[in-house]
Amino acid sequence: MSDAISHQADSPTSKNRLKNLFKNRLQNRLYGNPLTRENTRALLLGSGELGREVALELMRLGVWVCAADSYAGAPAAQFAHESRVLDMADPSALRALIAEVKPDIIIPEVEAIATAELSTAAQSGIQVTPSSDIAAICMDRERLRVLAHETLGLPTTPYRFADSLDELRAGARQVGYPCVVKPVMSSSGHGQSVVRDAKDIADAWVEAQTGRRAAGDGAISRVIVEALVPLDYELTVLTVSSSSGIVTCSPIGQRQESGDYRESWQPAAMPDGILHDAGTLAKQAVQGLVDEARSKGETGWGVFGVELFVLTDGTLLFNEVSPRPHDTGMVTLISQRLSEFALHARAILGIPVSETDVRVNLPEGCTAASRAIVVTGQGQAVFSNLPDALSIEGSDLRIFNKPEVHGHRRMAVALTIGKDESEARAKSARMLEALSISTTGESASDAR
Ligand SMILES: Nc1ncnc2c1ncn2[C@@H]1O[C@H](COP(=O)(O)OP(=O)(O)OP(=O)(O)O)[C@@H](O)[C@H]1O
Ligand SMILES: [Mg+2]
Repeated sequence: MSDAISHQADSPTSKNRLKNLFKNRLQNRLYGNPLTRENTRALLLGSGELGREVALELMRLGVWVCAADSYAGAPAAQFAHESRVLDMADPSALRALIAEVKPDIIIPEVEAIATAELSTAAQSGIQVTPSSDIAAICMDRERLRVLAHETLGLPTTPYRFADSLDELRAGARQVGYPCVVKPVMSSSGHGQSVVRDAKDIADAWVEAQTGRRAAGDGAISRVIVEALVPLDYELTVLTVSSSSGIVTCSPIGQRQESGDYRESWQPAAMPDGILHDAGTLAKQAVQGLVDEARSKGETGWGVFGVELFVLTDGTLLFNEVSPRPHDTGMVTLISQRLSEFALHARAILGIPVSETDVRVNLPEGCTAASRAIVVTGQGQAVFSNLPDALSIEGSDLRIFNKPEVHGHRRMAVALTIGKDESEARAKSARMLEALSISTTGESASDAR
């Protein structure tokens, strides 16, 4: 067997090299002794609520996990085998971390990462999920939009890019008012604004420069200006790329508020035609990204959250994609046998993920819902009345155990099952009412 593998390694065709790489990864990984070095080692870059669930799923499969984040006591860091605190956007800090931890797999769970270091790591043989290139493309609205629309031909909103206020003015005129201005590097709505009239375009330019990630670094951020399209609803199609190909989960419906998700539900009700097209569009987007990964000899394995817009006239548009579990996908913690986190862990480890693995697992005709619990205040968030909240039939709760709130912070998620979307959403609203949540009004260090 080893002869066959080494023979393939010498093969001149990149296809064989790729096959060989995957084969080695599947066969040589060792699990179940995380306290020794003879084990599969994963480095999680970003240890929030989504990273926490990924860490849990990996640990259940016998993987050693190091959880890194920019602050101490992040959710996954509270129980991973090891944890580290660093600025993951700082190339030298990230390089030192990778050299010290010596992971087999690097799992970026946030966008703001020094992606050039991921590419160096991938070249040295470390598996970066889904791939170092995909992480870099998806954190940059320009690279992603150009790939999706101009290379893959996916339908998107009309858009232009701009480097200055003058270019932005010209771009806005071309896509038309009203429009949306977004920094090319940002997430969760930061630095974005809707502009309804040409007189307000300068404000949008300033907002993009000051509200974006790494604002204050002295650089001018490129922006994208898109036509503001009439949304009927929005969908997330969780799409899994694994060693057995690409499969999609049932689309997730959602309600967004101030750039952040507040509620999601699955399966989202929609006409059969849209259901079919949404799956096709998501697969095309992910296939395009996976092809990029494969062309560099990387796997492209993992879960992707493909965001789609459904317009009032029924048109379906590609918006963007997260190359990792999506926050709206937290609903799968209650709606599927294998949540998006379990699917991510499996795909990353080279385990084939089938159509059956991604099915919803709910009583006939039922819908599941998730509701983000955003706490406002200062200090530690304290939850009580859990017995009341969880007495609601078909309910579940995840408290993220984040150390503190300063202003607003997503601290938990309510999960419910109802006979339809409205009952499931009403139940999660009742859970929120039943819970009692307060903040201590001081930081942990003050309290000591
Ligand atoms: N061109 C548009 N037309 C209509 N609505 C839009 C448009 N662009 C964005 N939106 C609305 O703003 C939300 C956030 O936009 P987008 O997904 O591009 O940014 P984001 O900062 O990456 O958000 P997130 O990180 O929460 O996914 C969308 O989900 C949608 O509700
Ligand atoms: Mg988005």
